Amino acid sequence: MTDYFDLIKQRESCRNYLDKQVEKEKLIACIEACRIAPSSCNGQPWKFIVVNNKELSIKVAKCLQDLGMNKFTDKCPSFIIVLEEKGDIKARIGGTIKNQDYSSIDIGIATAHLCLAATEQGLSTCIMGWFNEKKLKNLLDIAVSKRIRLVISIGYSADTKLRKKVRKSMDEILQFIE
Ligand SMILES: Cc1cc2nc3c(=O)[nH]c(=O)nc-3n(C[C@H](O)[C@H](O)[C@H](O)COP(=O)(O)O)c2cc1C
Repeated sequence: MTDYFDLIKQRESCRNYLDKQVEKEKLIACIEACRIAPSSCNGQPWKFIVVNNKELSIKVAKCLQDLGMNKFTDKCPSFIIVLEEKGDIKARIGGTIKNQDYSSIDIGIATAHLCLAATEQGLSTCIMGWFNEKKLKNLLDIAVSKRIRLVISIGYSADTKLRKKVRKSMDEILQFIE
């Protein structure tokens, strides 16, 4: 098992995939990591669609490429589509009172779990917020009333070296009060 701090350093967005199918068990393990993620009032406002089919994955990729974006997905074998479901009633009322979008926070946490579970299993991911929601719903027969919040590409990376992480400095993000 990888040390947590090594694992989070190993995770990076992959935009270069090998032509290699992903094992079904590994994808299910990623969803298990989402299933046990925390959420506001334990509302679990999510559903996941896993596409692990070569022909369909090519069609999913086309839904992610508006304005020439995300072209790399043509070579990605699998995708996970994250749908927002109605959260717990208490979480929704609380969110309205506190002016907070708890469902988005919950989905972000579950997605982080997913990407780290993938990394632990030797897989690589890229979270994508840029997709043609209407086209994707049409392709996957998802009800018009549903919201697709994220799409995650997942597969084996063709890159052999990790990139340097470009991040704000600790000084810029931390206020430490003692
Ligand atoms: C909500 C969200 C949406 C993103 N959308 C895209 C996207 O559509 N296409 C893409 O190539 N990367 C996308 N990314 C990946 C970010 O660009 C990436 O996480 C960031 O640059 C940091 O790099 P790293 O993931 O390699 O550490 C997205 C990331 C998040 C969290």
